[in-house]
Amino acid sequence: MIQAKQQHYFLPELYCKRAKERYHGSHVPCLLDSFHGHASSYSIDFVALSPGRLLQGDMPLRRGNRAPNCSIGCDASVLLDSTQWSQAEKESLANKRLRGYEVIYAAKGALEARCPGTVSCADVIAFAARDATYFAGGIDYAVPAGRRDGTVSLASDIRGNIPPPNATAADSWSIFANKGLSLDEMVTLIGAHSIGRSSCPSFAWRLYNFAPGLPQDPSLDPGFAAYLKSRCPPSTVDVNSTDPTTVWLDGVTPKKLDNQYYKNLLEHKGVLFSDQTLQTSPMTAGLVSFDADQGEAWAEKFGMAMMKMSSIDVLTGSQGEIRKICWVPNH
Ligand code: HEM
Repeated sequence: MIQAKQQHYFLPELYCKRAKERYHGSHVPCLLDSFHGHASSYSIDFVALSPGRLLQGDMPLRRGNRAPNCSIGCDASVLLDSTQWSQAEKESLANKRLRGYEVIYAAKGALEARCPGTVSCADVIAFAARDATYFAGGIDYAVPAGRRDGTVSLASDIRGNIPPPNATAADSWSIFANKGLSLDEMVTLIGAHSIGRSSCPSFAWRLYNFAPGLPQDPSLDPGFAAYLKSRCPPSTVDVNSTDPTTVWLDGVTPKKLDNQYYKNLLEHKGVLFSDQTLQTSPMTAGLVSFDADQGEAWAEKFGMAMMKMSSIDVLTGSQGEIRKICWVPNH
C-alpha cells in the first residue's frame, strides 16, 4: 500500500503541474527536471525502516519541514557535522536537541546501496517528512523530488532564520513571511506541534520569575503551569541544562497529528511561548480559532503548506551536490 502511494506521488507530471501552478508558469524550476526517469526508482518505505521513530515525528517532521530550516536552504545542511574550522548548524542552540538523525541516515544508506548518487539527503528528509505526516495524521501531500544538498553548514546562519521558543507571533511572522509563506500557512504549519515533545529549557523560563511582578507567564493556564513545574524544576531554566525530561507538546493526543494543538491553545495550554502567542496575538488569534474548529480544513491546509515549504530555496540542477554520506560533503 505504501509503495502504491509513493508510486502515485512520483508521477513527474503531477510535480511539474504543481510546480507550474506555484511559480505561475514562468521560468519554472520544475524540480523533477533534474531527475528525469529516476523518480519512481528510488521510492523508499520509511515505515519499514523505522516505524517507531517516524511516528515520533521528530527529525523528519520537525527539521524536514520546519520552515526556518528551509530559510537557510532546504539543502540538508542541518545534517552536516562541524569541521575543525567551523561549527555546524546542528551545534547551534536551536538545533542541539534535534533528534532522529539515524532515521535519515538509515534511509540514505539504503538508497545509496540501491541507486548510488541519485537521491540527495535533502530529498530524503522531505520524503521522510511526507511519510511521517501521513502516518501520524493521515495527511497526504505530494513532494517534488530533485533537491540537491548544500556543502556548507554554519551555526552562525541560524540566528534570525529560526524563530526561538520565546518568539512572539510577530517575530515568527517576520521569518516565515520572508520565505513567502502566508500568516495562515505559518499558523497552519506550527500545528505540527500537535505531535512530539519539548525539553524543559525551551519553556521553563515561563514558569519561574517570568517578569517583574509576574511569577509565571500569565498566558498559561495556572493548573497547566503547575503540571509543567512538576516536570521541570527551576534549574531547567538554564538553556545549558542537561535535564533529560521532556513533555508532550500536545498532551491530549501527543502522537496524533491533528488540530487538538489549537484547542489546547484556546485553553491556554500551549507548552511553548511561541505557541501560546499565536492565540494571544490579535494578528493570529482568529486563525487559531478557525483551525481549532475546523479539523478537516486544517489538515487540508497543512498538506498544502508542507508541500509549499518543502520547495522553498531548494538547490537544483548543477547547484550543490548529491552527498554520498549525509553528515559530510563529498569533497
Ligand atoms: C515559530 C516557529 C517554531 C518554533 C519557535 C518552534 C520551536 C520548537 C521547539 C522549541 C521545540 C522543542 C525542542 C526541544 O526543546 O526539544 C519544537 C519541537 C518540534 N517542532 Fe517546532 N517550532 C516551530 C515551528 C515548527 C514547524 C513549522 C514544524 C513542522 C512543520 C515544527 C515541528 C516540530 C516537531 C514535530 C517538534 C517535536 C520534536 C520532538 O519530538 O523531538 N515546528 N519546536
